[in-house]
Amino acid sequence: MNRPQVLLARAIFPEAVARLREHFEVDDNPEDTEFTPAQLSERLRGKQGLLCTAGEPITAALLDAHPLLRAVCLMTVGYNNVDVPACTARGVLASNAPGVLTETTADLGFALMMATARRMAEAERYLRSGQWTKWRYDLLTGSDIHGATLGILGMGRIGQAIARRGHLGFGMKVIYHNRSRLAAEDEAPIGARYVDKTTLLRESDHLVLVLPYSASSRHAIGAAELALMKPTATLTNVARGGIVDDAALAQALRDKRIAAAGLDVFENEPAVNPALLDLPNVVLLPHIGSATERTRRAMVGCAVDNLIAALTGGTPPTAINPQVLPLRPA
Ligand code: DGY
Repeated sequence: MNRPQVLLARAIFPEAVARLREHFEVDDNPEDTEFTPAQLSERLRGKQGLLCTAGEPITAALLDAHPLLRAVCLMTVGYNNVDVPACTARGVLASNAPGVLTETTADLGFALMMATARRMAEAERYLRSGQWTKWRYDLLTGSDIHGATLGILGMGRIGQAIARRGHLGFGMKVIYHNRSRLAAEDEAPIGARYVDKTTLLRESDHLVLVLPYSASSRHAIGAAELALMKPTATLTNVARGGIVDDAALAQALRDKRIAAAGLDVFENEPAVNPALLDLPNVVLLPHIGSATERTRRAMVGCAVDNLIAALTGGTPPTAINPQVLPLRPA
């Protein structure tokens, strides 16, 4: 019997490729070429499975062009690139990698917030460029984390993990806004108080964005929202580019409308708005929220588990649309 064929849209750990080869004919991408939509479609010919990231657009047109395709398994938690209703309508399973990166991303989000508030990147540039000649009472003064008000927009798993760090580790007051309010028993251990979005913007000393990207969260933070924030506040985004209007943020930082920002994600990444690159009061990271060796192995492992289960009659552990199971034969 012919073995299912699968495409790996991006490079993954060699051990994970070897595991997939035990079950499938694997078309891999060890050079980690970023396929254009046309190249992706070309390479998908005859494939039943696809392992990819949040970077490859999975559209209705792509699915229609590949009627043999049965499973699209992402190694990322975010899946805003996938047209899930189109997958479901065509009986294609979609899966992501939730849970395994929660604590790692919360670590990075908290670290970025601290680096932003305490001006660490700016301070390091100052030292390396030889400008440090003496201690001064007002040298690179930032704002405190401990005891400050931590605002969280988007209180999913990662938001709650950041809130826990702030509340238990740093005695922060935690306020949050989310599509739905947490149950009281989930709010209490992380000291979280639900507020409306305007109150969140007005009261946060350090606002962290952890909401998923969708048409409705695009530019959730723009000029009007930045205008409501305290001039001493910081803004940290570890969610998705496009949630913040980067041009409006650059203007607010230049005008000192807010004190500083920490960004791990950008509207047109990997391109970064040049206006941000010129500013001292923004810490810029290349989308490394989940980037620890252990977590990246777990994310890839999750996608591999889902793909194997999907195409061998099993139950994919983190399906987004499990209602398509059992899958039709290709
Ligand atoms: C995700 O998993 O969605 C991240 O953005 C990639 O680390």
